[in-house]
Amino acid sequence: MDHPYLYRKQYQIGKTGSTDVIEKYFHLITQNKNEEIAIADIGSGPGNFTHDVLITLFKNPIRKIVGIDISESMVKFANSTYGNEKLSFEVFNVENEVPKQYISFFDYVFSFFTYHWIKNQRQLFLNINQMMKPNGQMLFSFVAQSILFDIYQLVWRRPEYAPYISDVYAGQPCFQKSKEPMKELQTIIENAGFKLGMIKMEKVDIRNLSLNDFKEFIISVNPYYDKMPYHLKEKFILDHLEHVPRDAEVEGPNNYYLKFNMFVVYAKKK
Ligand SMILES: C[S@@+](CC[C@H](N)C(=O)[O-])C[C@H]1O[C@@H](n2cnc3c(N)ncnc32)[C@H](O)[C@@H]1O
Repeated sequence: MDHPYLYRKQYQIGKTGSTDVIEKYFHLITQNKNEEIAIADIGSGPGNFTHDVLITLFKNPIRKIVGIDISESMVKFANSTYGNEKLSFEVFNVENEVPKQYISFFDYVFSFFTYHWIKNQRQLFLNINQMMKPNGQMLFSFVAQSILFDIYQLVWRRPEYAPYISDVYAGQPCFQKSKEPMKELQTIIENAGFKLGMIKMEKVDIRNLSLNDFKEFIISVNPYYDKMPYHLKEKFILDHLEHVPRDAEVEGPNNYYLKFNMFVVYAKKK
């Protein structure tokens, strides 16, 4: 996940979990227009969404908006492209202990297309709860289940790639095989000290993708592309593409498609 340019370029896939979610659900967020506020965007990636969309949504004066990301290269890119006095990006693994300066700091916590990376979901939501002020609000989306993670399993277990794959489950949502993902997530969120306002499972279906769109998208989100030796890189990506479904009703090469189930949640800290 260290390719900020490619991730930003393949925004037509990423926007389904960010811009589209904001368009449909931002109305759930309440604003008290007189207060100065602090906002977090967890898993801010290249920072374009934090800068181009999130900042523009608030009527309140913004004291601080912080993009948080585990990837140093994403944070470096985001700071040099979008950073300013109020908007900054920081390297932080949201599964780890919350830095002191962020305890009870944020009024709003957003996150788009990131939490499927987090294995310990209980710890994740306890940490977010710690970061928020009482009555703080959060809105987030993440992938619950996707064919892409089954494709990862098929390719990553091949003997030629095995020496470079340290964890075959990396990046796989812990709800991928769950029979009742909504119920499980709801329990985790409520037990972490939140009052749930909305939980949904959206079915996303992105059509008419070209081979190149998919190639760039997989390179930008696949944690092992960079770990492959040079002579295996191209084959590694093409082996993924071999399993991506194609729409027989669309003529021409741009008929790759991607379907997945995505959580969308709005909740308040109690
Ligand atoms: C798919 S990108 C999403 C970028 C942006 N939110 C968007 O929707 O366009 C996911 C981001 O989550 C970050 N990430 C993954 N695990 C993380 C963790 N444990 N803590 C913080 N960030 C993490 C990755 O480095 C990556 O930049």
